[in-house]
Formats: sequence, structure tokens, C-alpha cells
Amino acid sequence: MKYILILNGPNLNLLGQREPDIYGTATLCDIIASLGEAFPQTALRHVQSNHEGAVIDAIQQHGLDPDCLGIVLNAGAFTHYSYAIADAIAAVKAPVVEVHMSNVQAREEFRRRSVIAPVCRGSIAGFGADSYRLAVEAILRF
Ligand code: DQA
Repeated sequence: MKYILILNGPNLNLLGQREPDIYGTATLCDIIASLGEAFPQTALRHVQSNHEGAVIDAIQQHGLDPDCLGIVLNAGAFTHYSYAIADAIAAVKAPVVEVHMSNVQAREEFRRRSVIAPVCRGSIAGFGADSYRLAVEAILRF
């Protein structure tokens, strides 16, 4: 069965309690549940890890699975410096859409650089939990 992977990196398990002024009050469970409601016809799988290697393993495993339509990736702070995650994205066939809840361009200098953006199909940032929904929509249109 075809599916889309929602892949979240470090500290995103703390959504809802983490800096709510920036990331809002919805938990990661809330966000995944509302994606399920928004896309009832689409199988969604979800992985979250605070560990770089586990994020890479998920990109490799799902990104090379012919049933995976695409990966919605919020790599958290790995976005800004993980060349290993960038290499994993470049190595797989499935399109990867970079997602951020906050508008990273409007924040600290270090967040304005994404080392994964050049190997992602596209990037969506600044729309809170809606960034995930927009990314799923983009993958469904590929
Ligand atoms: C984030 C932005 C990153 O800079 C930060 O490290 C995160 C969350 C976002 O969703 O806005 O953990 O990816």
C-alpha cells in the first residue's frame, strides 16, 4: 500500500510544551491526528527520533521503498548542519519535502541556512502545523 512518511527529528516530540509562543500548543500526536483527518484516503506513517542516525535510517528505509510516495521531513536543528542527512536524502528515490513550523528565515542567523534544502524537492516553513498539511498536499500532486 502506498504511503507518505511524516518524519520528525529532534525535540519535535516536545511540541505542545516546547516554546509554545514559537511552535504553538498542538502536540505532535495532535498534528499527526489532524493530518489523518485531512487526508482520510492517504496512508500516513510517522517516525520521530532525537537521533541523527535514526533519522538517516528512516530516510534510507522509506526513501528506497517503492511504496513510499514521499517523505515530509522536519529535521529540527539537524536542518542547519547535518550533511549526513543531506546525503541520505540525495541517495533515495522518494521526494523529500522540508518542513518547518516556524519561519526559519525570520529567526536567528543559524536557522537561515538549511544544508538539506538543496537536495529536497521543496521547502515549506512558517505555517505552524499547517506546514505539514501543505507538504502532504505537495507530495500528493507530484
Ligand atoms: C524547526 C526549526 C528549527 O530551526 C528548530 O531547530 C526546530 C524546529 C521548525 O519546525 O520550525 O527544532 O524545524
